[in-house]
Amino acid sequence: MMAPARKKLFIKTYGCQMNVYDSERMRDVLAPLGYEPSEQPDGADMVILNTCHIREKAAEKVYSELGRLRPLKEEKADSGAPMTIAVAGCVAQAQGEEIMRRAPVVDLVVGPQTYHKLPELIAQTHRSRGERLETEFEPVEKFDALAGNRKVAGYSAFLTVQEGCDKFCTFCVVPYTRGAEWSRPVDQIVAEARQLASKGVREITLLGQNVNAYHGEPPAGHEADGVWGLGRLLRHLAMIGGLDRIRYTTSHPNDMDDELIAAHGELECLMPYLHLPVQSGSDKILHAMNRKHTFESYARVIEKVRAARPDIAISGDFIVGFPGETDADFEATMQGVREINYASAFSFKYSRRPGTPGASLPMQVDEAVASERLTRLQALLEDQQTAFNGSQIGRRIPVLFERKGREDGQLHGRSPYLQAVHCDAPDHLIGRIAEVAITGSTRNSLTGELDAKASAA
Ligand code: SAH
Ligand code: SF4
Ligand code: F3S
Repeated sequence: MMAPARKKLFIKTYGCQMNVYDSERMRDVLAPLGYEPSEQPDGADMVILNTCHIREKAAEKVYSELGRLRPLKEEKADSGAPMTIAVAGCVAQAQGEEIMRRAPVVDLVVGPQTYHKLPELIAQTHRSRGERLETEFEPVEKFDALAGNRKVAGYSAFLTVQEGCDKFCTFCVVPYTRGAEWSRPVDQIVAEARQLASKGVREITLLGQNVNAYHGEPPAGHEADGVWGLGRLLRHLAMIGGLDRIRYTTSHPNDMDDELIAAHGELECLMPYLHLPVQSGSDKILHAMNRKHTFESYARVIEKVRAARPDIAISGDFIVGFPGETDADFEATMQGVREINYASAFSFKYSRRPGTPGASLPMQVDEAVASERLTRLQALLEDQQTAFNGSQIGRRIPVLFERKGREDGQLHGRSPYLQAVHCDAPDHLIGRIAEVAITGSTRNSLTGELDAKASAA
C-alpha cells in the first residue's frame, strides 16, 4: 500500500481535560490518512477547533478564532490546496446549526461523540456533498472505534473512563453538550492503561465529567460482581506495572462512596490530591443550583477523605453571583473556604448559559457585585494556596520529572499534590521519579534540591 500524502493538521483545544484527551484521539484517528500535527494554523490542510461551551467567554472565542482563520484559508486556497476547517467539541454540540449559519468558513461540525467518523466526514466534505453536521450521542461507538493505538508524548497521560452527566446543575451546559452519563467497560480501560504503561507513561489521570459516578461493566471473569465503581477500578489499575501514579478528575460530592474514600488510604499510587467542587457555601444557593448536597454534607465527605489520607490536598470549584446570591450567601462561601482550607481552587463569575434553568431565574446578580465578590474569594483562595505550598518547605517529596525547565540545567516536574516543581537535575531524570528537598515556594510552584543520595526510581 502506498503511504498517504503528508498533510498538516492543526488542532486548537479549549476547555477541560476531556477535550485535551479527545484532541489527542482525533490526532490518532487522522494519522493513518497522512495528517501530521502542526504547531500553527498557517498552511494547514486541516484545522480543528475543539471547543468549550461552559461559560459565555469560552464559547465566544470560537467565533473570533474563525475570523482569524478566514484569511489563512483564502491564502491556502490561492496556493492551490484547500484548508478544511472543522468545529468540534461542546460548542459544536450546542450550536452546530448556528455555527454553519454564522461562519461559512466552517466546512464541518462534529460533536464530541462522533470523532471516530472524522475520516469519513472529511472525505465527504472533499467530495462536497453529504452531511456537514454530525452531532449524535453514541459514546459506545466512539470509544470502540477510537480504542486503537495511542500515540504517546510524555510521561503523564489522560484516560477518559466516563462521559456525560445526569446531574443537571441549573447553571451547567454539560448534560446538554456531552449527553447522559456513560462509563467505558473496565477491560477497555485496562487495555488502554496497559498500552500507555508499555509506552513509558508513569502517571495516568482518569477523566470524566463525573468521574466518580463511574459504573462500568466488570472485566471478563468478574461478571457476577455487577458494575464496578471507581474505587474498584482504581484498585484494579493500581496493579498495572509501571504506572506509579494515578489521579482522577472531576468528582461530584454525592458520588464519593466509601470504597473510593478507602482507596485513598490504601493505594500508594493513588495521589493525595482530590478535586471536589462545591460551588457555594450557602445551602440556599446549592439548592437553587440543584446540587443535591448541602455545604455540611460536603464538609463531612472531605472529613472522611482526610481521615483516610491525612495529607490529601483538596481542590475545588466555585461560582459567585449565581441568581439570588445575597451578601450573606457569599459570606457563607467565604466561611466555607476558611473551614475547608484549599490547596488550590478555581473560581468563576456565574455565566448565564442559554437553555439552562439558571438563565431564566429571577434576581440575576449585578455584574459589579459579582466581580467584587470574585476578587475577594480569589484573594482568600490564593492565600490558602500560597500557605499550602509554603508548608512543603523542609519536606522531601517524590517528584515526577516531566520535561526540561525554563532555565538551563533545570527540570520541571510535579509533586504528589500536583504542584509544579522546578529543580536543578540532569536530563536523564526526565520520565523518572526522584526525591526532592523543597527549599522554596511561591503561589504557583515549588523549588528544591535533588537529593543526591536518593536514587531515582
Ligand atoms: N463536572 C464537574 C465540572 C464541570 S464544569 C463538576 O460537576 O464539578 C467545571 C466548572 O465550571 C464547574 O465546577 C463550575 O464551577 C464552572 N461552571 C460551570 N458552569 C458555569 C457557569 N454557567 N458559569 C460559571 N461557571 C460555571
Ligand atoms: Fe455540570 Fe453539575 Fe454535571 Fe458537574 S455535576 S457536569 S457542574 S451538571
Ligand atoms: Fe467545556 Fe465541554 Fe469540557 S463545555 S468544560 S469542553 S465538557
